Amino acid sequence: MTKGGKPMKSNTMQTEELVKKFKELFGGEGKILCYFSPGRVNLIGEHTDYNGGHVFPCALTLGTYGIVRKRQDNKIRFYSHNFSGLGVIDTSLDDIVYSQAAGWTNYPKGIIWAFAEKGHPIDSGFDLLIYGNIPNGSGLSSSASLEVLMGTILNDMFQCGFSMIDLACIGQYSENNFNGMNCGIMDQFAVAMGKKDCAIFLDTSDLSYDYASVKLEDAKIVITNSKVKHNLVDSAYNQRRNESETALAELQTVVDIKGLGDLTEEEFEAHKDAIKDPVRQKRARHAVYENQRTIKAVEALKSNDVETFGKLMNASHISLRDDYEVSCEEIDVLVDLAWSVPGVIGSRITGGGFGGCTVSIVKNDAVDTFVETVGKGYKEKTEHEAEFYIVDIGDGAGFLKEAN
Ligand code: GLA
Repeated sequence: MTKGGKPMKSNTMQTEELVKKFKELFGGEGKILCYFSPGRVNLIGEHTDYNGGHVFPCALTLGTYGIVRKRQDNKIRFYSHNFSGLGVIDTSLDDIVYSQAAGWTNYPKGIIWAFAEKGHPIDSGFDLLIYGNIPNGSGLSSSASLEVLMGTILNDMFQCGFSMIDLACIGQYSENNFNGMNCGIMDQFAVAMGKKDCAIFLDTSDLSYDYASVKLEDAKIVITNSKVKHNLVDSAYNQRRNESETALAELQTVVDIKGLGDLTEEEFEAHKDAIKDPVRQKRARHAVYENQRTIKAVEALKSNDVETFGKLMNASHISLRDDYEVSCEEIDVLVDLAWSVPGVIGSRITGGGFGGCTVSIVKNDAVDTFVETVGKGYKEKTEHEAEFYIVDIGDGAGFLKEAN
């Protein structure tokens, strides 16, 4: 990890240290289990997942660790090592309701709620310590990571028999209906179904998927964190989703489709006048073209044509900036700087938008110049310090080990 071009000390805590902390807080007896759930980065296919289109994310080796032990009563004790100042948060199975005061615990609580909704009420409490090394507010899916972590733990501890895809859907269901964020399925799916060195080509219209190797010989995938997260992210996201849904309903009066992802570019151009509002038309154009770009990008990658993949990433950014309008000044500065560096194959905003991170494909021998040029230029133009992560693609969520 590097920050502003200088190497940064890794803050990853070993599971042993986490187990030690767990025992200090909750006592050492009984069966203590360790789990991990990754974050994700999306390579291309942005704001297509709730439009029935394709996405192409991968799981990171950064993520959330969970150390847990079942209890005999209905108490739940939560502790986040990231928010250690909050101390142990005591609650119980009788208090599974959303509240602002519950802060981060609304995510695990939402999963407990969703398990009950899906026919598996949880019948005893637990002690849970979590620790995450996904940078906060970076748009690398720390919330989906935590949701799928909780799902994986409950599924194992209470033997519910859900598949990893079920757990992804439960995570989304809980985020939509418990936490009020109307997200699509991409993040939870990537976190649950990630595979080392592969990205997931997911068709969100039916959840069919395919893994594609992204082991690049002479290039690296670099995430740049703008360290900026603008307010209203969730409300702007929900608004984009509403605009897309209205545009879809208008198109459905003239063409038989289930989602914007069903249309080719040509079909969209032929029918777009059914969308009455010019802003909504731009939103729909993004969803249709971005889906087609994603399909083409994966084809290009499969035939080792990384250059074409990069060009499609650049086009994706322009569309997210101008048509979907989910970029922001800081992110555009990062992308413009990236595009100016020789050896950068492609660069774009990644995730929900309004801040967060960019993702770039950079030739191996250009990585140092990339970090220096983008880091320096960003600092000059915005006074923020960017952070850079060279991506290691990891596996999806799962059990790590039983603690001694
Ligand atoms: C957020 C959502 C995802 C997806 C992306 C945009 O990360 O959680 O479902 O819509 O934004 O592609």
